[in-house]
Parts: sequence; C-alpha cells; structure tokens
Amino acid sequence: MSKSARKKEVLQSVRGMHDILPEDQMYWTRAYETYKEVASYYNFQHIDTPLVEERALFERSNDQSEMVQKEMYLVSTGKNKQPMALRPEGTAGVARAYIEHGMKKWPHPVKLAYYGPFFRHDKPQLGRYRQFFQAGFEIFSSTIDPIYDAQSILASYRFIEALKIKGVSIHINTIGTPKCRQAYLQKLKAFFKSNGKKLTADQKKQTDENPLRLLDSKEKNIEEMRSEAPNILDHLDGDSKDHFMEVLEYLEDLSLPYTLDHTLVRGLDYYSHTVFEFVLDRKEGEEGLNLALGGGGRYDYLVELLGGRATPAVGSAPGVSRIVDVMKRRQLVTAKRPQKRVFLIHIGELPKKKSLTIIEDLRRANVAVTEALGKASLGAQLKSADKEGSAIALIFGQKEAYENSIIIRDMKTGAQETVPLDKVAKVVKKRM
Ligand code: HAM
Repeated sequence: MSKSARKKEVLQSVRGMHDILPEDQMYWTRAYETYKEVASYYNFQHIDTPLVEERALFERSNDQSEMVQKEMYLVSTGKNKQPMALRPEGTAGVARAYIEHGMKKWPHPVKLAYYGPFFRHDKPQLGRYRQFFQAGFEIFSSTIDPIYDAQSILASYRFIEALKIKGVSIHINTIGTPKCRQAYLQKLKAFFKSNGKKLTADQKKQTDENPLRLLDSKEKNIEEMRSEAPNILDHLDGDSKDHFMEVLEYLEDLSLPYTLDHTLVRGLDYYSHTVFEFVLDRKEGEEGLNLALGGGGRYDYLVELLGGRATPAVGSAPGVSRIVDVMKRRQLVTAKRPQKRVFLIHIGELPKKKSLTIIEDLRRANVAVTEALGKASLGAQLKSADKEGSAIALIFGQKEAYENSIIIRDMKTGAQETVPLDKVAKVVKKRM
C-alpha cells in the first residue's frame, strides 16, 4: 500500500470489541454501582487482577476448554519471550492471587469480588464479544460447604435482579467429583458410540476427548438424542448427592427460581459438584438474547492445581456485557435529569482569559457551568446556551472584566441584571 493510501485508511475498533459511547454510559454506570452495592452487602472484598497473565495460568486451569484451546488472546512480548495471555476469565487470576498473597492465612471464608474486561476470540454476534465485561463473586472456604454455593449464586442473582431484569432462572446441575465422574464418562462415551451413525466426524472425536461437552452441544442431532443419554444424577456418590441436595434446599429457602438441567456441564474444566447458569426467559422480539447472563460453579481442585494448598472454592460471574444488552433492549434505565447549569458567555480576549478562573469560583460555590470557550461571538454563544437548555446565561464582556462584574441574563425573558462577581453565585443559586 502506498504511503498516501495508508494515510487515508480509516481505522476502526477491532472486530468484536466496542466503544461504549456517552449515550450508553448510564447503563454501565448503573451496572457498576449495583455491583459495588451487592459485593459490599454480601461482604465480598473487591480485588483487581491484571489483564495480562502467564498463559500457563489458563492452560493449567482449563486445558481442554475451547476458551483456552481456541479463544485465548496471546500477547507477544518481544524476541524469544513466551507470549502472555489476555485474561479470558477471572477465576484463575483470583485463585493465583489467593495463593500469591498467602490468603490461606486470612480468616476464612475469603470472599473476593471483581469487575472488569475479559477477552475471548469468540465469534462476534449480539452477546458474544471479544472484549466483554464480567463481574465475579468467588468464595474460598475451609470446608466444602453448600452454603457457599448458595451464597455465590445469590450474589449474582441479586445483581441481575437489582438491575431490574425480570424472568431469569438458575439452571443448575452437579458434575460430582472427578472420581465419581469417571464411571459416568464411560457410560456417556458408550452411549454416544452406540449412536455413532448419527454423529459427525467432529462429534465422534469429541466422544473420546470430552463427552461431557458433547452432551452440552447445541447441535440438533445431539439435542434429539439428549433425553436418552445417561443422567449424571444416577452416578453420584453419597457425598456429592448430599451436597447437591443441600444447595437446592438453600435455593428453595431463598425462593430463588431454579431448573434442574442434567445436561448442563459448562465449558470450563475446573468445576466439580455444582455448576449453574443464569438463563433469561425471552420476550417476543428478543431473539438475540438467548445466551446465558452468567454462570459459575464449584472448583475445589483449582487452588491445588495452581500450586497452592487444597482449598474448597465456589464462584459465580454475571456477564455484564450481555446484561447491559438486555437493559438496553428493555430500556431499564432512564437518563438522570441533568443538573441545572448556567451558561458562561465571554466576549473579548480579557474575559476569555478570565473565564476558567470564574468557572473555578463557581465550582467552589457549587454552581454547575457549561461554556463554549472556542466560540467568540455573542450570537453563537447565546445559540449554544439555548441548545443546552440553560435557563440562565452569564455574560462576561470587556466592561464587566474591568469592573469585576457579570451580567445575569434570563434566557426565557431576555431580562438582564449586572451583579458584582463576588455576588454572582449567591444570586444565581437563588434564581435556580
Ligand atoms: P463463563 O460462563 O465462561 O464463566 O462466563 C460467565 C459469563 O460471562 C457468561 O455467562 C456470559 O454472560 C459472559 N460471557 C462469556 N463469554 C462472553 C463473550 N464472548 N461475550 C460476552 N459475554 C460473555 C466464567 O468465566 C467463570 N470464570 C465463572 C465462574 C466464576 N466460575 C466460578 N467462578
């Protein structure tokens, strides 16, 4: 490409990554404030972990997942250096931080919450972004206690509910412990093999590598045979069954709406026992909003896998970007009435020079000001004041600058009054 052609090329945001424009900020602000409220109410401490981590962190924690195998962004770090990973999810980073900062010595449970951007090379569409926001509520405890599964589910559910999204249910399942899962996986493999004729080549491969994921597939042929597939609940050991039953009892006590879904296995490798997703009942015209609004589960083996001491843990993560999609679709936030502002008009060089100081004086006096510092003419600035809907304009010209005064103009009636500069805040406040 020639130099001049390159110059003219219009650059755009990377596919699947989006600007959040001023008009949408109200949704995002509401989501963040709600996250803060929920985390604080349920005593989660906020943690920020880096956006970039060693790739081994995610490879070790989720080796077989599509997220690590196909969707992870690697960041080149120069010659001969191992690439780093842009974090595709938050749990592994928080577990790393738990180990790195010796949190095993903190009083347990250690409850950590986070909020921020994550990156996956997903296929872009509504609800699937390559940079997206998640919040997360993770609990590290000293025993495997179902009360923490319930509390982590509760935090995410309340977060979604507080954002006024109605019709969300918790799809929940257990995948037991790795030990009791073995026998089930054999049965599942045998089941898919007996249906071999109906499977594609890829699905046959998946039968050997990860039959649980195949069970979760959205493809039509799998959906058709799913009801015949062996059910994990028939293969649980006694402890896993008791654990799951207790989680469900807590959800019932809390009157949280849940649906048992024995085919739900989730796409990540680190889970054991409880797994769940937050699913939206869609209204008419909401075709694009069929993806889970959040998910999570228990991950009792992750801390050990990352080099720490065996630590029971469970967590949930609302997908904030998808939640904001629903809020926008359903118009669940209305813009706050803007604060009433006066409009400062300057006429001439000296008044322009003094404008910033005048604004600072007004700021100290708690008077909100709008201005058009780049405009010179009175007419243009009055037009801007009108457009902004300001009820009052302050006109500051050469004469006023010498006399330390300012004109207060009522934009509706056009009536004007000159007042000393040190009185202007008082008069304006009275009038507003
Ligand atoms: P996850 O199900 O992979 O779980 O992601 C959680 C939520 O993030 C999803 O339910 C979805 O709402 C949102 N999400 C995922 N990928 C995308 C994407 N490409 N575009 C937009 N939103 C997306 C986890 O990440 C686990 N760390 C959850 C967890 C916490 N497990 C235990 N603790």
